[in-house]
Amino acid sequence: MNRCEFIKSSLLVTAGLTLDPMGGLVMAADNQKWWQRTIVYQIYPKSFCDANGDGTGDLRGIISKLDYLASLGVEAIWLTPIYPSPMVDNGYDISDYTSIDPRYGSMADFDELIEKARVRNIRVVMDLVYNHSSDQHQWFLESKSDRKNPKSDWYIWRDAVDGHEPTNWRSIFGGSAWAWCEARQQYYLHTFAKEQPDLNWENPSVRRALFDAARFWLDKGVGGFRIDAIVYIKKPPQFVDGTPDGADGMINVHSMTANTAGILDFLREFKRECFAGRDIFTVGEANSVKPNELGDWIGENGVFDMLFEFSHLNLSVDGEVWCRPRAWKLTELKSALSASQEATATNGWYPIFFENHDQPRGVNHYFAKDADPIKAAKALATVLLTMRGTPFIFEGQELGMANASWTSIDQFDDIQTRGQYEFALKEGLTPEQALDCVQQFSRDNARIPIDWSKATMSNTVLNWYRDLIAFRAEHEELLSGTYVELMAKDEQVFAFERALGNKKLITLVNFSTAEAKLPKKIATLKIAISSELNPTAGVLRPLEARICRI
Ligand code: GLC
Repeated sequence: MNRCEFIKSSLLVTAGLTLDPMGGLVMAADNQKWWQRTIVYQIYPKSFCDANGDGTGDLRGIISKLDYLASLGVEAIWLTPIYPSPMVDNGYDISDYTSIDPRYGSMADFDELIEKARVRNIRVVMDLVYNHSSDQHQWFLESKSDRKNPKSDWYIWRDAVDGHEPTNWRSIFGGSAWAWCEARQQYYLHTFAKEQPDLNWENPSVRRALFDAARFWLDKGVGGFRIDAIVYIKKPPQFVDGTPDGADGMINVHSMTANTAGILDFLREFKRECFAGRDIFTVGEANSVKPNELGDWIGENGVFDMLFEFSHLNLSVDGEVWCRPRAWKLTELKSALSASQEATATNGWYPIFFENHDQPRGVNHYFAKDADPIKAAKALATVLLTMRGTPFIFEGQELGMANASWTSIDQFDDIQTRGQYEFALKEGLTPEQALDCVQQFSRDNARIPIDWSKATMSNTVLNWYRDLIAFRAEHEELLSGTYVELMAKDEQVFAFERALGNKKLITLVNFSTAEAKLPKKIATLKIAISSELNPTAGVLRPLEARICRI
């Protein structure tokens, strides 16, 4: 498809129509929303594009790439936090919820971004970090000043128990989840870093302030929100010790507080106050919601439109501890993804993703060490763009970016990586072994600056993304059809069918570095598109991705 045809088919998709291969018009599923039929592109502004040359990406850099993003067929960009922040957690420690960090530009730049994106049919999606603020937020500065100020109850304060921390909970970034405050002679809870104190959602004034901030961005015309670490906002009624899960005698705070009963009451109020009746989408980061609870979380009666969950990402380590790697099989990855597809088959909608700002690069994470990174990138792209749901591309993924190489722990600018490194040393690993773990799993692998010199006509990964995106836009069965996994027991090939009425496509992706023989029934299907120049019927080459027509 040439550029003109692509634009024509994108317009048709937006209008809820597609062309069948003979050029006939096919009606889209009439109950689908715009965000179910598009592609979202995630931007980590610090490393995306630096327009003023000061070494940090900025809003004007994003503006300069809008044509590129539009040409990819992207209709929403999710920006990780761009609010003022001391950057202890690279922007996820916010000190003002309704301003722009001067590192990234000004509010005028933001308004211009919204407007320039709008004329290209792209909506800007903001990241709401509402479980915690920065310890430099005015609210916390006031709250910590004494026990009597008007905001004294805006965070989670507790007295010491027998002269030490109230519980043995370990924060997600390592060390106790409690920090001492001299002025109040009390501890405060921080699920993440000590510079990220947890907000007290039980206090209605806190909720009102947070909802006001969300409405501030809605009034500016944002197209939705990604909602950070939301499963932690409700705390249990009693704070008690848990059975230690590490050599430090502590237990991960996640096991003690995530998804506590009563959380949905807060979230229903959040939806009612901020999202209901607006033409936006919301996607919550929620990694402990069980499939049988999904109906309360997403869909018609749910609190969000989509949920990011991590069952397919967390196969390679035990309990999210990087120094406890585990070997995983392709069948585990496939069944994790298929379970999510099934869970959202009739209710809610699935955000498909393999990379984000918290993950290493997919070409390293999902494939053997000796896998050709270009072929691996194409293989993963094929799953991403043909499963059922809204695909989320993380910046640079479409260029085939791979993990960075690190030689020392001092090179990392990430609190989580340093926490995992320290934990590994405590577990008895040598510094070299601990560095190996962070090399493999650190999120800084995906946060390094985008190498824009790769965005050329000769980048075959980028071209494959463009081909697949165009192919997706042309095939209604990929947009709204059903998903059925095939060859479920196969340890080399991920295969699934997407069907709408009598229109059927089959995706076949060889995740291994060896040739894969296809079963007879599939071997004879007509190849519609392949990542190999000369695909052979009956066999998938190492890492080959192919879509067949029935
Ligand atoms: C989320 C973000 C991550 C951040 C953490 C604390 O998991 O994706 O980047 O460090 O929350 O806000």
